Amino acid sequence: MENGLVRLERAEAARFRRVARERCKEGLARLFLRQAWAEFSVSVGGRLHFRETENARAVRAYCAMTVPEFEGINARQKWANWRSIPRNLHGRLPRRPCRAVDLCSGVGDSTEVLACYLPEGSEILGLEYNPEFVRKARSRIYRDAQGAPVKAEFRVQSVLEAFRDCSGKRLPDASVDLVNCCGALAVNFDESAIGSLAAEIFRVLQPEGLATVDAPANCSGKERMIRIFSRCRFDALGSAQSCFLDRFSQICFRRGGP
Ligand SMILES: C[S@@+](CC[C@H](N)C(=O)[O-])C[C@H]1O[C@@H](n2cnc3c(N)ncnc32)[C@H](O)[C@@H]1O
Repeated sequence: MENGLVRLERAEAARFRRVARERCKEGLARLFLRQAWAEFSVSVGGRLHFRETENARAVRAYCAMTVPEFEGINARQKWANWRSIPRNLHGRLPRRPCRAVDLCSGVGDSTEVLACYLPEGSEILGLEYNPEFVRKARSRIYRDAQGAPVKAEFRVQSVLEAFRDCSGKRLPDASVDLVNCCGALAVNFDESAIGSLAAEIFRVLQPEGLATVDAPANCSGKERMIRIFSRCRFDALGSAQSCFLDRFSQICFRRGGP
């Protein structure tokens, strides 16, 4: 498995950094302080248990947060998304409009990055448990690399259920080009839940479709995620990390044949 950073040409890496600075204007030091303060205030109310591998507890904690509190605790994730997602998608997507699903989409920060890097004319469906986060995500405008609006819809549901579109219809088998997940799989799901998710991701993806999912940055954490996805016939293509200090990475998998 190659490292996303090695594969990139310098010019592309510089372009991703420039876009990240333009679209996510807050500097790292400020984001770090904002997140530390938000985590402190959420912990005072005893609601800090959102970093829970037992998913039912994690979603309860997220549902007890206000949108501004969530934006505070998600600040580092937002910064990292602008660096890891493009490194993983670069050169791997078909050159035609794609259909993408953003799992655990929060208030739309990861969706915003997908909108920027998917081919023109693509559509995104965000699935998120917290209805308040979905309301916020729906209120935003998502733009592609040229600044044109991108169609992004959001549905309130647990991603541990069959993926459905906004009308409630189950997504057809092999109908999606990319399933993305940032800041959730490695933290809020245990091994058996990740296994069920991987099976549902396999169902909706076209053969050769991509799954970009977060994983711990350390070797054993990455190997564990690769083992779980391999059981569902995914091949790991590479991984990307926002910077060497990031405790998390994102692994890019390709769905195997039928
Ligand atoms: C750290 S946030 C990441 C948000 C977004 N992906 C981003 O990168 O900005 C994790 C999100 O996962 C959501 N989540 C956790 N478990 C979920 C589940 N079973 N179904 C849907 N959403 C879930 C939480 O509500 C929260 O919004």
